[in-house]
Amino acid sequence: MDLKKLKEQFRSIYINRTEEAPVFFSPGRVNLIGEHTDYNDGFVLPCALNYGTYLLALPNGEGKLRLRTLNFDYHQESDTANFERNMESEWVNYPLGVADQFRQKGISLPGLDMLFWGDIPNGAGLSSSASIEMVTAVALNHFSQAEISTLELVKLSQRAEHEFAGMNCGIMDQFAVGFGEKDKALFLNCGNLKYDTVPLVLEGYDLIIVNSNKRRGLTDSKYNERRRECEEALRILHPVTGVKSLSELGPDSLELVEKSIASDVIKRRAIHVITENARVMEAVGLLYKGDIEGVGRLMYQSHDSLRDNYEVTGIELDTLARGARETEGVVGARMTGAGFGGCTVNIVKKDATADFITSLGKIYQEATGLEATFYMPSTEGGARRIS
Ligand code: GLA
Repeated sequence: MDLKKLKEQFRSIYINRTEEAPVFFSPGRVNLIGEHTDYNDGFVLPCALNYGTYLLALPNGEGKLRLRTLNFDYHQESDTANFERNMESEWVNYPLGVADQFRQKGISLPGLDMLFWGDIPNGAGLSSSASIEMVTAVALNHFSQAEISTLELVKLSQRAEHEFAGMNCGIMDQFAVGFGEKDKALFLNCGNLKYDTVPLVLEGYDLIIVNSNKRRGLTDSKYNERRRECEEALRILHPVTGVKSLSELGPDSLELVEKSIASDVIKRRAIHVITENARVMEAVGLLYKGDIEGVGRLMYQSHDSLRDNYEVTGIELDTLARGARETEGVVGARMTGAGFGGCTVNIVKKDATADFITSLGKIYQEATGLEATFYMPSTEGGARRIS
């Protein structure tokens, strides 16, 4: 939807508003490699997407936060002095959670008439929630004149997700959505939040996201379970190695890990984190060299480890990754995001893209009865005011 149409929608919903509403935009993100490493203080390599969330807002002088979206019917009005988690509707908890973080910081918010619209497929692992959080955070920062730094907006959006959405997520999504840059991936060290932007030059290749259209049903509980399993691995390994996070361990510690952890499940979780961090570092080096085929090989290895060691894939994502591997012209494919459903990210030679879409769509439909959706995104800058 173009900005003109969004502005018309704003005026037709908030009928007495004649002033022009500022427009804020926040991207979604796709993670190229480095999955389930962020909450282990490890490395990730996401990039921000042109799919995102738009927010138009104007102060209403009534001490009310009015939340509307063009994506769902559900809307809500809240008193700006008191925000509560909503049990009936999921989407309002993202802006409400962020507004509550401002309240907790002692920042008084003006009443605002807000209208959201987004084109990130919902629940697909492309960070639609972080995108709503960050677009809200940037807008509230603007209207409250609080002058909070982007890094602090990222952190408070993550806390909003923990407290109002019940998902104990790491920092990757909000960080990528906040700091993304056009034509760049972010090589982020989640342990100290230092990052480099890595040029994402895919000459001759397309970046294709494939949505399994399998909703991530039990994701939150399984996700929180994986976090606990990593904590358990660290509890066992800390006395043996002295490390404070699994990400301090390199591939040379794998033998020690094998010996020290009795539980096969906990051992495999640790192996995933250690090897995945090494893959991210290697992928960054290969991207700088323009070795896209090398990056692709690491993506396949990442998927295999997420399937066998971390067990967060499932038949739908595995079919998409295997189907891609068997298709001519595909150099790499893996699940992206939390897993259990959602999307794969693929790198495909440009001249093979059309056939890839037809043949993978067919393989997937035959194996699962579901229809896959294909996206060819471009990269985008981070959350900001755009008009
Ligand atoms: C979700 C979380 C992130 C990260 C990924 C897995 O997207 O929000 O913090 O843990 O899963 O890499």
